[in-house]
Amino acid sequence: MAKTPLSKIIKFYVRFTPSYSAIGYHLRSIFWKNRPNKFEGQTWLVTGGSEGIGAAAARKGAEGGAHVICIARDPAKLQAFAQSVQSPVPVTYLTADFSKTREVYALVEKIRESGQRLDVLIDNVGIQKHQMVLTDEKMEFSFVTNILSHHILVKSLLDNKILKDDATVIEVASGGMYNHRMVVDDLNITDPARYMGPRAYGLAKRAQVMVMGYWREKQSHLNQRFYAMHPGWVDTASVNRSMPRFVAILKSVLRDHDKGADTIVYLARERPPQHRKEAIWFDRKERNTHIYAHTPDPAVSPEDVVRKLDSIAAAVASQPEPVRQAA
Ligand SMILES: NC(=O)c1ccc[n+]([C@@H]2O[C@H](COP(=O)([O-])OP(=O)(O)OC[C@H]3O[C@@H](n4cnc5c(N)ncnc54)[C@H](OP(=O)(O)O)[C@@H]3O)[C@@H](O)[C@H]2O)c1
Repeated sequence: MAKTPLSKIIKFYVRFTPSYSAIGYHLRSIFWKNRPNKFEGQTWLVTGGSEGIGAAAARKGAEGGAHVICIARDPAKLQAFAQSVQSPVPVTYLTADFSKTREVYALVEKIRESGQRLDVLIDNVGIQKHQMVLTDEKMEFSFVTNILSHHILVKSLLDNKILKDDATVIEVASGGMYNHRMVVDDLNITDPARYMGPRAYGLAKRAQVMVMGYWREKQSHLNQRFYAMHPGWVDTASVNRSMPRFVAILKSVLRDHDKGADTIVYLARERPPQHRKEAIWFDRKERNTHIYAHTPDPAVSPEDVVRKLDSIAAAVASQPEPVRQAA
């Protein structure tokens, strides 16, 4: 693969570091009015909620009085996190692996059976892979984890009326989408020769934003809210694992987990109107989803993305059980 020219790398850091690091957060936060977090009586679901940005948002929700249900794979990590939170209503948790669609359906079924309904969904789980990894459902791992499972979750929660009529859905997206134009047929690249980790991640993140636009429109008869947000550059386990060089350069100015979760908590608390049809929220403001001339494509609509996701989900669901269960 061709190496990125040094001049391009320098340009990137000069352009984005002041804004996405803790520096941008500190400068913007001077002008913010902070109201108390009052979430009493609410139920939240937070995916990827045992560490990092998801856990920070979950903690704020619980401390504000919500019953927070955290989702991740490792029950020991979930339990340790739940026990670390001092809150009026204890944090609870369920395990589900978002790289496996069947576990997302099973999760929804468990919530449905429990009779709980959700005020806030924070769809936060996300990872970046360097190499193409095929799941046991024969799909690309980051595509399923970052967008397909998110879409299945939101759609199934809506279909089962588990999301209340005034629920807030917050997708944790990323500035990683900025460099990528949406190509729906490239959302699930399973050919290792064509796979590029940052592009797979960026396309999934752009799809998250577009899908929120789809639901905002479709559910506009209700008082539900659908947002996509970007946490900034946050010093978390996954960033340390997937981008060690980036962390080595920027460690001293990366955001802590609470700063990464700030806009999530702000959106859950304030439920601000969104003026743009498509936007990504960052540091409490809705912002453009395109910053480069090569990424807008008016020929691709949110409906196209949803159609593609629905058709892949249907194809996976129709796989015979032994194939789906194979390791
Ligand atoms: N950190 C940043 O600078 C940054 C920047 C832009 C966007 N984001 C986005 O912010 C979100 C959170 O990132 P983070 O940096 O906070 O990550 P993190 O610290 O690595 O936390 C990941 C969480 O997700 C869970 N998880 C991982 N894989 C999972 C899977 N397959 N199924 C279910 N749960 C899974 C982990 O628990 P288990 O391992 O036990 O499952 C953990 O609770 C992601 O969507 C990421 O793309 C982060």
